[in-house]
Amino acid sequence: MAASDPHRDDQKFIRLLQALMGLLLLMAVVVLAGGYVFIFGVPDFKEEPLAETQSYQKPDSNFVSLWTAPPEWRMAEVSPDDRKRINYGQELIAHTAEYLGPKGKIKAISNGMNCQNCHLNAGTQPWGNNYFAVQSTYPKFRERSGTSENQVKRVNDCFQRSLNGKALDSTSTEMQAILAYIKWLGKGVPSKVAPRGSGIFKLKFLDRAADATQGKVVYEQKCQSCHQANGEGVLAADQKSYTYPPLWGKNSYNVGAGLFRISNFAGYVKYNMPLGVTYQQPQLTDEEAWDVAAFVNSMPRPTKDLSQDWPNLAGKPIDHPFGPFADPFSEKQHKYGPFKPIKKWKDNHKGLKVPNPLTIASR
Ligand code: HEC
Ligand code: HEC
Repeated sequence: MAASDPHRDDQKFIRLLQALMGLLLLMAVVVLAGGYVFIFGVPDFKEEPLAETQSYQKPDSNFVSLWTAPPEWRMAEVSPDDRKRINYGQELIAHTAEYLGPKGKIKAISNGMNCQNCHLNAGTQPWGNNYFAVQSTYPKFRERSGTSENQVKRVNDCFQRSLNGKALDSTSTEMQAILAYIKWLGKGVPSKVAPRGSGIFKLKFLDRAADATQGKVVYEQKCQSCHQANGEGVLAADQKSYTYPPLWGKNSYNVGAGLFRISNFAGYVKYNMPLGVTYQQPQLTDEEAWDVAAFVNSMPRPTKDLSQDWPNLAGKPIDHPFGPFADPFSEKQHKYGPFKPIKKWKDNHKGLKVPNPLTIASR
């Protein structure tokens, strides 16, 4: 064969070109996939969102940066009056009891807990029930009240339920300060968006019911040293707030509170408790988180008249534990699970409206 057959050389060249193009295509795919993972995290197609309002977000990828509070230097962009309000708002979230607890120096309208006991680091902790999505998503329609709620209503929901207390006047200096602080924390969040890492993480449902007996064992081993055997926590030296806040008993959140739903409790605890763990280094398995949630929420706590909640029965979340329900499942299953069958029923009855006989009766 001739060493320099021009036809063969052309063919070689074409094959080389083809190989090169193939390689380039492969590289493009790798770069694009890598970019996707870098920005959005490793996709997980099996996850089942629990969310009524927020989209499912996966926390445990090293690549993913979660939303954080605006840096201190941006305070320079804020007027001195607003700065004062924001700082006071932060103080009220962190040390609520000192101002508004049973021995509060402004007013006694709450149970001695601080907002920060549940909204960690004054509402700035990723997956620590932070406030990053509040400014961007309120006012919003909430099934619990059946109305569009503004921030004042939402803050007072926590005063009346999580702090088992009374509403704060919307025009008070304190409410205005809390609103200013929440607005500050939402700086830069696009409207209607719940940024990655905001609020509470939504765990996958177990295939079984959560088990309060197993949860008691988890509690004794991993929680009791701080929250105490009687669940009532430990008061601070000043006797006004808690070093370790109560998880049940007369000074804890009431049965109308968000944490009384075990999905919220389990999601909060998984990435924040025992104190010091973060979403990067959780300590509890999902099973332990669900079980300890079942245990704590089976213990006694303050009640609340909930007859005005959930005007549409079909709008009750899967794990709201009090009937009547639009679906055929029992109160027990709504409290502890298994939740997958309830989820399936709800998915098959999307958009259903069933007027609540209790809210109608009182009109
Ligand atoms: C016992 C725990 C607890 C305490 C104390 C508490 N909260 Fe909450 N708060 C929650 C939970 C749980 C949720 C989320 C409920 C849900 O998603 O259903 C929440 C939600 C909120 C939201 C809405 C967040 C969002 O993204 O929609 C605001 C605002 C809020 N709380 C403000 C406060 C303020 C202000 C205080 C103090 C006066 C406070 N909370 C005290 C547990 C608590
Ligand atoms: C080392 C002490 C410690 C341990 C152990 C611990 N916690 Fe906590 N926990 C705290 C403190 C302190 C807070 C309040 C955090 C704050 O104000 O910054 C808290 C807050 C809470 C809250 C929200 C506030 C409330 O009282 O409702 C819940 C729920 C909770 N812990 C559950 C648990 C569970 C469940 C465990 C066991 C898996 C646990 N904790 C283990 C110290 C602890």
